[in-house]
Amino acid sequence: MLQLRRITKSYRMGEMAVEILHGIDLTILRGDYTAIVGSSGSGKSTLMNILGCLEQPSSGQYYFDARDITLLSDNERTDIRNFEIGFVFQQFNLLPRLTALQNVMLPMVYAGYGRQERRQRAAAMLEQVGLADRMTNRPNQLSGGQQQRVAIARALVNQPELLLADEPTGALDSRTGAEVIELMSGLHADGLTIVLVTHDPSVAKNSGRIIRIQDGQISSDSQPRCPDDLFQN
Ligand SMILES: Nc1ncnc2c1ncn2[C@@H]1O[C@H](COP(=O)(O)OP(=O)(O)OP(=O)(O)O)[C@@H](O)[C@H]1O
Ligand SMILES: [Mg+2]
Repeated sequence: MLQLRRITKSYRMGEMAVEILHGIDLTILRGDYTAIVGSSGSGKSTLMNILGCLEQPSSGQYYFDARDITLLSDNERTDIRNFEIGFVFQQFNLLPRLTALQNVMLPMVYAGYGRQERRQRAAAMLEQVGLADRMTNRPNQLSGGQQQRVAIARALVNQPELLLADEPTGALDSRTGAEVIELMSGLHADGLTIVLVTHDPSVAKNSGRIIRIQDGQISSDSQPRCPDDLFQN
């Protein structure tokens, strides 16, 4: 599904360019559930932002299915980000003035659904994450775990095949975090491809594959995939 080839990322710091990712090679198959671990500052979020088309790499190739993302226009990349990838963040990033239902309806505005259908699909999604009885609550009327489940519903409402989550349990206590991870496991069992970043070993263990990033490089991979595997999947 995804293939990175010699991806680098540099940030400009005044006159100097500082390289953060040093040539990442990574293959992820449809249906994989991958956890990315590594110490703070190692480049995990930078890598996730590239996977999610939120940032462009400085060099290298990124194939999403058969398309090299680095060669697409900004509009084409935005479409991939909006319709083919769901992104979940540590801090939920819900809009505080909107209800849970309205937050989940939002990504569908650009997808061309009528208001009625947006409402129905958002409600079904919230039901799926166990929040049927919280639809009209605003984020500050929900617990952290409930807010993260709303964020997951929002990420999935346009039916992407890939879910990216950067420390989705980082702001939650361990019990609430476990609920969110249980939800993710269920989604994975239903066929969703998941890549998440975590500092929590128990969260990482729940995935099928653990990749460690050290100083902007992959230092270990519990389930290495080779690019040829892409054609068998
Ligand atoms: N926009 C930016 N401009 C300059 N430097 C950046 C930028 N974003 C990240 N960096 C630097 O890149 C390095 C990697 O950051 P990144 O956020 O990817 O780390 P991380 O592994 O996600 O860390 P954490 O576990 O703390 O979230 C850090 O040294 C950071 O300061
Ligand atoms: Mg990070």
